[in-house]
Amino acid sequence: MKAVKSPQKEVHLKIRKVDFQYSEIPRFYYENNPFSTHFINTLHLLFPDGERFFIDSMIRYKQDIDDPKLKKDIKMFCGQEGIHGVEHEKIVKILTEKGYKTKPFLDIVKGTLKRADKIGTKVAGKSGPLILTVCLEHFTALFAEGMLQNIDISKADPQIAELFQWHAAEELEHKCVAFDLLQEVDGNEYAKRVVLMPIVSFLLYAYIGAGTAYFLTQDRENLEVKKLPQQLNSFVFKFLRQFHSSGVAKWLDFFKRDFHPNHHDNYHLAEAFLEGKRYA
Ligand SMILES: [Fe+2]
Ligand SMILES: [Fe+2]
Repeated sequence: MKAVKSPQKEVHLKIRKVDFQYSEIPRFYYENNPFSTHFINTLHLLFPDGERFFIDSMIRYKQDIDDPKLKKDIKMFCGQEGIHGVEHEKIVKILTEKGYKTKPFLDIVKGTLKRADKIGTKVAGKSGPLILTVCLEHFTALFAEGMLQNIDISKADPQIAELFQWHAAEELEHKCVAFDLLQEVDGNEYAKRVVLMPIVSFLLYAYIGAGTAYFLTQDRENLEVKKLPQQLNSFVFKFLRQFHSSGVAKWLDFFKRDFHPNHHDNYHLAEAFLEGKRYA
């Protein structure tokens, strides 16, 4: 069955060559809360290799696509994701310099993605890795919406806040590209993606949870035991709630046969953030 088409306005993607520089970043840079901070730190660790996986899953189709708009969007998507990875790697370097062990977790992520590529291809054919990308891009779009719409960003170190808001804005800009490519290259994509999505969702949260716990364990000397209950409470009932404010219903939309990422009207959040930015 062919192609659910994008029902909304065209977005012209742009590769913004940002080059964020960082001065001292506090240890617990989100609301002085180790739980929220290490949740975010885990995302810094997941993004670079994850985004390289996305790029690889898409450029293998470069020669198969005739539509000039989609061809250009794929190029822009890869450019944006490439720069996201580079920018998050700067934070990984800073975390490593602060004394956090990051390599063991990064190695596990790399290994998992390699296996995901192999197993994805075995289970779903050539489009397997692209389907995994589409599932994960659904998450990045939902997270980006929560980030730009509801997270109390004033509680974060402004340097980290800017990095995540810029990244979130570009995720909303390019949220359709992998999906549109999948529609073009795999006529049986629906059944495959609805089967893979629950597995991808489970693994994503397992890795975020494990990474957060890994950082917290390394920080046990720096935690203030008396404050932990209140900090955990604030992490669970404020931070996580705001981060997931797009809601389960929007996650479930992915399972509708006629779903398209543009059905979630959130591009204006990206436009509002980017307006007036020197790198916009
Ligand atoms: Fe990204
Ligand atoms: Fe993305």
